[in-house]
Amino acid sequence: MCGIVGYIGPEEAYPFLINGLKRLEYRGYDSAGVAILDGGLKVYKTKGKVQDLEDLTLNKDIRGNVGMGHTRWATHGEPNDINAHPHLSQAGDLCIIHNGIIENYASLKEVLSERGHIFRSETDTEVLVHLIEDIRANEKVNIFEAVRLALNEIVGAYAIVIMSSQDPDMLIGARKGSPMVIGHGSRPGEYYLASDATPIVEYTREVSYMDDGEIVQIKDGQLTIKTIENVEKTPYIHKLEMTLDAIEKGGYDHFMLKEIYEQPKSIYDSMRGRFSRTQLTFAMQSLKEYETKIRNLERIIIVGCGTSWHAGLVGEYLIEEFARLPVEVEYASEFRYRNPIITEDDLVIAISQSGETADTLAALELAKEKGATLYGVCNVVGSSIPRLTDAGAYTHAGPEIGVASTKAFTAQVTVLTLLALGIANIRGKIPTARLRQMFTELEQIPSKVQQVLDNCSAQVLEIAEKYKHATNFLYLGRGYNFPVALEGALKLKEISYIHAEGYPAAEMKHGPIALIDENMPVVVIAPKRGYYDKVFSNIQEIKARKGQVIAVITEGDTKIPEIADHIIEIPDTDDALVPLLATVPLQLLSYHIAVMRGCNVDQPRNLAKSVTVE
Ligand code: G6P
Repeated sequence: MCGIVGYIGPEEAYPFLINGLKRLEYRGYDSAGVAILDGGLKVYKTKGKVQDLEDLTLNKDIRGNVGMGHTRWATHGEPNDINAHPHLSQAGDLCIIHNGIIENYASLKEVLSERGHIFRSETDTEVLVHLIEDIRANEKVNIFEAVRLALNEIVGAYAIVIMSSQDPDMLIGARKGSPMVIGHGSRPGEYYLASDATPIVEYTREVSYMDDGEIVQIKDGQLTIKTIENVEKTPYIHKLEMTLDAIEKGGYDHFMLKEIYEQPKSIYDSMRGRFSRTQLTFAMQSLKEYETKIRNLERIIIVGCGTSWHAGLVGEYLIEEFARLPVEVEYASEFRYRNPIITEDDLVIAISQSGETADTLAALELAKEKGATLYGVCNVVGSSIPRLTDAGAYTHAGPEIGVASTKAFTAQVTVLTLLALGIANIRGKIPTARLRQMFTELEQIPSKVQQVLDNCSAQVLEIAEKYKHATNFLYLGRGYNFPVALEGALKLKEISYIHAEGYPAAEMKHGPIALIDENMPVVVIAPKRGYYDKVFSNIQEIKARKGQVIAVITEGDTKIPEIADHIIEIPDTDDALVPLLATVPLQLLSYHIAVMRGCNVDQPRNLAKSVTVE
């Protein structure tokens, strides 16, 4: 969380910084700020969004070729102007922006206060810039060395950018636990720093992903990378494949809506070239490389957070059904702190859109210590999780900007479906006819998702209009559709602030049924396959208590429409693939309700897309 950008080069820094912050705003939007070197250090910062920062800087002639910008998701200190980044050193000649958490800031602050440092904000970040200043003065070293020594005293996670009015042709960046990308500009001495590649892509396609414990210095046009142990590194330059239209709204009112509508393509891209229906083979490198390991696996553990955890639950059902292997799905945050039993025979799959979620990363590090094989299912290329894992498969959903995850979820489920089938195939657990049938069905999913998008709009809008003022929603599903119910409820609460809960349909009678009355909308995922009769009975139980039933049903079903208040139809597909279709109308329902309630759909309050703090 928090987005950071930096620029040094022949151009004016400000336009890049402000554009970059807009691209990174999904990472946090409590406050925004920039600092530019223009003779001295000029800092502009404010509570609120990047737009508020732009309003603040309107009509100000901001010039300078070196600068940094920050958009904040508050951790230490409430979101206000003073706690907004950048932060200055005591003497005001050093400036810092930071994404992450400095855990030992309180003790450092105490020591520095005793030495006469006066702090203006409540942030952990300000302590770090004072520490660098203190080390520079006491050890009589240059700024780079002072940064390096200071970072050796820091416990916690950081991506930082530092500049100094005493060294006006210099920019320093460093990372540990929070991401940072270097963009290599086309002109000599031109470099960009950013939390991810989205601010950089319209300026250069050549990037280097920094590793943990690395510090970069650009000084007098020269780039140097060293580790905090002072070992020099050579940057590896990647070519960015991301396109500009992938990170713009493209005529849609919101990124979330665009991303919902992109799902036929993102699902297709996530399966494209990974299997052959005619030859009944898989072309997933990770499966080939780990064939022996997969054959001998005793168990799979899946870790993730939020929506990715829901995808993990679908993965559990898929792997257990097809590969007949026990699977445990864990909240990464719980897993990492409860001394879990992990062995060298385990495969730990981490699911993460951003590839940066702090808890998921930490869970993987723990599993690595215990000798497990690590596998990543991530969307952001070059992010921390894919670099930590032994193997993995990217989801190819393309950049997801809306804070509420949509296309990343269906892409994750697509990849997990392929993994389940691939593991089943290696272990000889899936008959040829069944594999062929699954491949055939899978190939039809993108066009079926398109049908859902084309056909359900009117129904969903009508339902949204009727229930937009509801205060509670219940979502129910069985089997593969239990995680869909969880995800549907999460989407609604995230962006419309309506309390919503997802439950296994049969669990309703153990509690939630007490809530049902004529005011309670209950979304039931009730496809023709799976446990249709059982879910039908659950719907009757809801109706007997006058609940309002919104049923997601298979096209052509005539029984449920007789008792449900509203129906949303999806095409028929294999039971195992229903989540890929049933999720889509639930995303749209949340979207429309949130828009009707006047909520900020792409940037819901208090949330951030990339959660790099635990
Ligand atoms: C945040 C986001 C969610 C996301 C979760 C996990 O809470 O708002 O949309 O599902 O983090 O993120 P990851 O990047 O690991 O999938």
